[in-house]
Amino acid sequence: MTTTIHRPARTTVSAGLAATTTSAASSADSLVTVRGLRVAYGDGPVVLDGVDLDLAPGETVALLGSSGSGKSTLMRALTGFAPVVAGSVDVAGHDLTRLRRGELRRVRADVGQVFQQFNLVGRLSVLTNVLTGALHDAGPLNWVGGFGSAHRRRAMALLDRVGIAHKANDQARTLSGGQQQRVAIARALMQQPRVVLADEPVASLDPRMSHSVLELLQEIAREDGIPVLVSLHVLPLALEHSDRVVGLRHGEVLVSAPTASLDAEALAVVYEGVEEETDDQH
Ligand SMILES: Nc1ncnc2c1ncn2[C@@H]1O[C@H](COP(=O)(O)OP(=O)(O)OP(=O)(O)O)[C@@H](O)[C@H]1O
Ligand SMILES: [Mg+2]
Repeated sequence: MTTTIHRPARTTVSAGLAATTTSAASSADSLVTVRGLRVAYGDGPVVLDGVDLDLAPGETVALLGSSGSGKSTLMRALTGFAPVVAGSVDVAGHDLTRLRRGELRRVRADVGQVFQQFNLVGRLSVLTNVLTGALHDAGPLNWVGGFGSAHRRRAMALLDRVGIAHKANDQARTLSGGQQQRVAIARALMQQPRVVLADEPVASLDPRMSHSVLELLQEIAREDGIPVLVSLHVLPLALEHSDRVVGLRHGEVLVSAPTASLDAEALAVVYEGVEEETDDQH
């Protein structure tokens, strides 16, 4: 693993070369490879500017950056939903920027997603919510036939894995936030994803729940050998629950390094000169 920490006033000939070398060295075993990604919404400003990212099987990568730095946009690009101006976004061997809609839908089925607000259907049972993960690639017709017993067994096994099997028949809305997020993780796993994206998955949870959900995500990455990209606003959580940190500022990658080589001081560069929401990092 290589370490890239770009200082704010990057003069960036050397920084750029270092980044290129890093990419070439690590892309061979990466499941996700992003190169030179530029994104702009409509006529607005560029919100991702030359982003490189590699996600290798089994690793948990914490994505840091102030509000507006481009974390969610980068995640969106990994599902082919961002307005890409330049660059490539390769997921499991497919460049999402070049795929047609039907092909894109198939690749999206490989990407499991977890969100801050869980996005469960509150009035449906926990088990049914997990089962909907299996619909990802099939479309609404599958609803007609219901779910087969093999699907049900797999959904129950996943609920057991995330520690919520005893709640399988409860309405999702009756669960605590931490429990709901576990259900959402089980639903993402139901897709048999090749990569998991978690956009601020613990922002609505208390500290104890936050630790346990992030532990679960890191365990899934290791055990299933899939990359997990998780955006966070709390530095200590990122330092404790990731193998690598990628730090965005104003749409540029300023830090890309193994977590073990970093501390809060090294990460301060990501938040320098950014007014909004700097309190969130404490
Ligand atoms: N749909 C959109 N249309 C126009 N601009 C957008 C859209 N989505 C995001 N942006 C802009 O892109 C920039 C990056 O936003 P993004 O949501 O990716 O940031 P973020 O790092 O996820 O922030 P937060 O920590 O608040 O979630 C911001 O300036 C935002 O206003
Ligand atoms: Mg966001």
